[in-house]
Amino acid sequence: MKRTLIKNLLNSAAALNRVRVSGWVRTRRDSKGFSFLEVNDGSCLKNLQVIVEETGPAFGQLAAVTTGAAVEIDGALVESPGAGQKWEVRAIGLRLLGGADPETFPLQKKRHTDEFLRTIAHLRPRTNKYGAMFRIRSEAAFAVHRFFRERGFHYLHSPILTGSDCEGAGEMFRVTTLPLHPPASPEGDGPFADDFFGKEASLTVSGQLEAELFASALGSVYTFGPTFRAENSNTPRHAAEFWMIEPEMAFADLSDNMDLAEDLVKALTVHVLENCREDLDLFAKFVDKQLMASLETIAAQPYERLPYADAVDILKTSGRAFEFPVDFGADLQTEHERFLCEEHFKKPVIVYNYPREIKAFYMRLNDDDRTVAAMDLLVPRVGELVGGSQREERYDVLERRILENGMKLESYWWYLDIRRFGSVPHAGFGLGFERFLMMATGVTNIRDVIPFPRTPKHLEF
Ligand code: 4AD
Ligand code: MG
Repeated sequence: MKRTLIKNLLNSAAALNRVRVSGWVRTRRDSKGFSFLEVNDGSCLKNLQVIVEETGPAFGQLAAVTTGAAVEIDGALVESPGAGQKWEVRAIGLRLLGGADPETFPLQKKRHTDEFLRTIAHLRPRTNKYGAMFRIRSEAAFAVHRFFRERGFHYLHSPILTGSDCEGAGEMFRVTTLPLHPPASPEGDGPFADDFFGKEASLTVSGQLEAELFASALGSVYTFGPTFRAENSNTPRHAAEFWMIEPEMAFADLSDNMDLAEDLVKALTVHVLENCREDLDLFAKFVDKQLMASLETIAAQPYERLPYADAVDILKTSGRAFEFPVDFGADLQTEHERFLCEEHFKKPVIVYNYPREIKAFYMRLNDDDRTVAAMDLLVPRVGELVGGSQREERYDVLERRILENGMKLESYWWYLDIRRFGSVPHAGFGLGFERFLMMATGVTNIRDVIPFPRTPKHLEF
C-alpha cells in the first residue's frame, strides 16, 4: 500500500476505510486506554491526529513511539469528534520505522530560540516554524521559474566556477587544488601556474556577466542559483552563500528594468499569499503581526520611484539622527533604505541614478557624467532587495570604466566582445532570494531563511 500525504488526508472529501500515513511523531498523549499521536510528514503545517487503541492490533510497538520517532500507520480516516480537526486516523496497524530517544532528542515540546535551532540546522526543519519556512522557500522558487517562463525568458545555468570578478569588489572565494604551501614556481610562471585551471579561479559572486552574453543571443534570460561572497560582514542580511535571481534583457533600458523588478516582487508576493497561506499565517501570528497588511501593500501598490539625489534630500531633511550621515556620494545604508520605505513612503521604493563612484563598472554612464543608470529596489523590513542597472553597451565607455576601476582589460575581452558585435541596449538586476524570504515572512535574520547558513566562522553541516 502506498502512503497518502497528510495534506491530502486533511483535505479529504470523504471518510476512507484504509489509508497509510508515514511521518514523525510531534507529540503523544495517553488517556483511558488510547494513545493520541500528532503526526507530521512535512507535506503541510498541520499534524494528523492518530488514535491508537492500547489493546488493539496496533499496540505492539507503541511503547517506543515518542516525540521525534518515525512511524508508518495503517488505519481508517474518520471524522474527528474532537475540536480542532475535521479528520483523524484510527490505527489498525503501527510500525516503528525509527525511534528517537527522549533523553537525547533535542526537539521536545517546548519552544526553542532561533539561536538554539541554528545549532541544530539538521533538525530544525522538523519544527513548525522551519517546516513552514522551507515550504514557502520551495514554493517561491517555483514562482520564480513560472514568472519568467510566462514572459518568454530562458533559464540560463551560469557557471559557479569563474575566472572573473563581476562586482569588482574583490570579495571572492578562491578555488584551488594547490597544496597549502606550494613549492615556489619557476620564475615567471605566476602563483597559479600549477593550479587546476592554470590561473586564479573563484566561486562566482553573480551570474550577470554570463547572463549579458546570453541575453545578447536569446533576448531575455535569467539565472537562479547560488552565489558566494567573502565579505566579512556579520550582519543579519548578509550570507557568504546566497541564492540570486538575475534576469537580463536585451533591447531594454532602466525603466523597463524597474518595471520588471516591480512585477517580479509583486508576482512572487502574490504567489506566496495565494499558495502558502497556512504557513504564512504562522509568521503573521508569531513573528510579525503587521506581515499580512505589509504583504498586501507590496503586492498591490505602485512602488515609488525616485532619483538617488532626491532620496538623499529626503534623508537629509528628515530630522532623523542616522548612525551613518548621508550626503550625495555616500552609499545608502540599511537604516536609510528602511526609513524611505517604512516611514517616508510606506511602500517599496526604487532609487535610481546613483553616483558612478559607488556603483559597479558595468553600469551605463548617464549623460551628466556623474551618475549611472543604476537602480535599487528597497522594501520594508529588509532594505535593499534588488540591485540592477542598464548596462554600458558602448565599447569605448566600457573600456574606460574597466580601466578606471583598476581592472584588467584582457580578463574581460569576451565581455567587451559583446560590445563589438551587435551591441544593444540591455538591462538586468539581481534579486536576493533570501532577502525576499525575509520580507515575505518577517524573519529578521538571513540565517533563518536558508537551510544551512554560511557566515564568517560558521560552516557546520
Ligand atoms: O546588488 P548586488 O551586489 O548586485 C549584483 O550582484 C548584480 N551583479 C546583480 C545584477 O545586476 N545581475 O546583489 C544583488 C542582490 C542584492 O540586492 C541583495 O538582495 C542580494 O543580491 N545580496 C545578498 N544577499 C544575501 N547575502 C549577501 N551577502 C548579499 N549580497 C547581495
Ligand atoms: Mg547592491
